[in-house]
Formats: sequence, structure tokens, C-alpha cells
Amino acid sequence: MKKELRKAIIAGNWKMNKTRPEAQQLINELKPIANGIGCEVVICVPFTSLAAAVEAVKDTGIKVGAQNVHFEANGAYTGEISAVMLKEIGAEYVIIGHSERRQYFGETDETVNKRTKAALAGGLIPIVCVGELLWEREANITEEVVSRQIKLAFAGIGAADAAKTVIAYEPVWAIGTGVTATNEQAQEACKLIRGRLEALYGKSVADSVTIQYGGSMNAQNAAELLAKEDVDGGLIGGASLKAADFGVIIKAATVG
Ligand code: 13P
Repeated sequence: MKKELRKAIIAGNWKMNKTRPEAQQLINELKPIANGIGCEVVICVPFTSLAAAVEAVKDTGIKVGAQNVHFEANGAYTGEISAVMLKEIGAEYVIIGHSERRQYFGETDETVNKRTKAALAGGLIPIVCVGELLWEREANITEEVVSRQIKLAFAGIGAADAAKTVIAYEPVWAIGTGVTATNEQAQEACKLIRGRLEALYGKSVADSVTIQYGGSMNAQNAAELLAKEDVDGGLIGGASLKAADFGVIIKAATVG
């Protein structure tokens, strides 16, 4: 992390977990842990818990995010939720293009781009997810894959908007598997992403964008990953569902 240049952000991606009472309980456990902490703490909860989460984090520094957003503001899109709706309910962040959405729900680089634009237009901070599959890493095309994902995600987005985004590098083979990228692999990919941003928008934007690592980040490995220069935070799945583990990670981001 380089805190003098950019914000350290630890975000929990709760995925499809926690009913409203369960969400309230986890937030109650998190509150004392996050009190006075020296990094941005975000919890990305299921749509059904957004209102309860926004209410529960009042008067704390914890921010609330969603896990997806539709690209239209309203209309005949059964089952979808727009940026306007998320903003109105009090969400500040939204995860876009998570690999589970790409894998199971037909998300493409094009829809990631449209959702990112919609989130920015709606005043939300997009957490744009990129990352290679296992076979892509084994075929030595990680750089090509991640570069393409970044280029397409940011197509048509200006520098001022790009500077407002957060990017999460999540190698798909590391998500939910217990296999973490090595510190060096995480650093290398985050640096590559920063280089792509620099090519698109110049050094000052590239230097200012928070780039997270995600994929089996946990209480044991967080400090080492966050010690890397271009790893500015984490997008945490499983370990964000346990207050004690998430607490260790946000403390590691405070110290780093
Ligand atoms: P895990 O931390 O469970 O591997 O999940 C990572 C992730 O997908 C965060 O978005």
C-alpha cells in the first residue's frame, strides 16, 4: 500500500449470505472493531439487507455497497436494481463484474463497461473486478487477459470518472479455493493494472486509484499481501463473514 497516494480500502463481499437479522448481528460485531480504524471499511451485502445495513452502520465509518447494478435507470428489466435505487437506499459502493457474475450470469466485458458507467453516473463508487482463469494463467496470458478486461471496462470513461473507481484484481482460481495468489503474483498483477491505467489516463490518475487484491485473503495472509506497494486493499469473501477475521484484515490495512 502507498497510503500517501491512495486510500486503503477493505471491502467485504458477503455474496449470497446473511438474512437481515444475521446481517444486523454481524454489523454489531464489526462496529467496535472498525471504530477509529485507519482504512476505509466497506460491506457489500445482498440487496435485501441494504436498508438494514445502512441503518446499522449509521454513526460508524463503515460504508455499505451492493454486489451488482443494472445499467438502465429504470424500465422493463424484471428482477434488476438500478444505480438510482441503490443511491437512494444509501449504498455508496457497488461491485461490478465479479467473476461469479461473469461465470454464472452471462456478464461480459461489455456489460461490465455499461454497469460501470451507470454506477458512476448514479454517484456510486464502482469496484470493478478483473482477473484471469486458471488455464489463462497456466497458458501465460494473464497479462493479456487482465489488460483486455481493463481496457474494455473503461472504454468511453473519462479520466475524472476513472479516478473515482476502485479496481479489484481477483484471480478466479484463488476465489473461494483457499489458494491465494503469492504476494508477488498479487503485486505483479496490481502493478500491471496500474500501468494500464497510466497508459489510458496518465500517471496521476493511475497513482490515485485504489487497487485491491481478492481471492482467499484471510486473517493469516492479509498483512503480507497488503505490504506490497500496489496492493491497496482487499475484496474479501469468506473471511468477511466472520467479524474476528475481518477485523484482523482491517487492522492489517491500518498498520500497513
Ligand atoms: P474469497 O475471499 O472467499 O476467496 O472470495 C473472494 C471474492 O470473491 C471477493 O469478491
